[in-house]
Amino acid sequence: MVSTSTQIAGFAFDNCLMNAAGVACMTKEELEEVKDSAAGTFVTKTATLEFRQGNPEPRYQDVPLGSINSMGLPNNGLDYYLDYLLELQESEPNRTFFLSLVGMSPEETHAILQKVQASDFKGITELNLSCPNVPGKPQIAYDFETTEKILSEVFAYFTKPLGIKLPPYFDIVHFDQAAAIFNKYPLKFVNCVNSIGNGLYIEDESVVIRPKNGFGGIGGQYIKPTALANVHAFYQRLKPEIQIIGTGGVLTGRDAFEHILCGASMVQVGTTLYKEGVVAFERITTELKTIMEEKGYESLEDFRGKLKYIEE
Ligand code: DHB
Repeated sequence: MVSTSTQIAGFAFDNCLMNAAGVACMTKEELEEVKDSAAGTFVTKTATLEFRQGNPEPRYQDVPLGSINSMGLPNNGLDYYLDYLLELQESEPNRTFFLSLVGMSPEETHAILQKVQASDFKGITELNLSCPNVPGKPQIAYDFETTEKILSEVFAYFTKPLGIKLPPYFDIVHFDQAAAIFNKYPLKFVNCVNSIGNGLYIEDESVVIRPKNGFGGIGGQYIKPTALANVHAFYQRLKPEIQIIGTGGVLTGRDAFEHILCGASMVQVGTTLYKEGVVAFERITTELKTIMEEKGYESLEDFRGKLKYIEE
């Protein structure tokens, strides 16, 4: 009777948990494993127009409280993921999957999105405005002018369901400014958050990843309070048609519960999925259902966004 089912952009998912882009989603084999697990759906590795090798290894490291990575957008190129998704929508017509993408320039982003628009793809597109790891390329969503320009240009031709992956923001004025921009567009969701960009992890006297002298995106337990703040800040500010996907620091059912309480309609698992494998989906789902049962909640709607404040 307790259900963790959800909807995004009008599509139904039998579970609100899925992978976070970058984890378990580079190859069809990895994507199949997520698809056939307890996850409700999957998102592909962020695709560029062409195959990319990414940064030199080591470029990902598990650390006690999370992870650090500077992958550099290695991926098999748009066609690899798009062709696979086109096949899947024939063989799994009742399920919906997410395609993540971004160009190495605004022109490339438009070329990619125009290709998706022209294709038969019926799923959900996530435009990644927050990759922190390509040397010389800033995180797009930290530049509000560029972000607004891209969105205004994209929605001139793109009519399929589209959301954006955001970096964490750390200032109330930035939440206000970002939300004011997003509210102007027919976005279906925002996904909060990508890794906390450009952290530094040290073991003995050395960094632990090669690219950028050790600077990399931080995930895992370190980032949950920042992730929850971003989920809730956008839940408070965005028009109700723009849903929230919550990502960051989800190790347990309790963490997923907190994301939903802050307003998330879907919850993504990154570092924990990397560390534990796809069995994490079943475990976290069971833990979430146990909490819901204890509290008498039957569906996510019973508590989504209902974070309690301390009265004046
Ligand atoms: C990479 C990392 C990200 O956080 C992201 O959003 C996209 C790509 C990467 O380094 O591959």
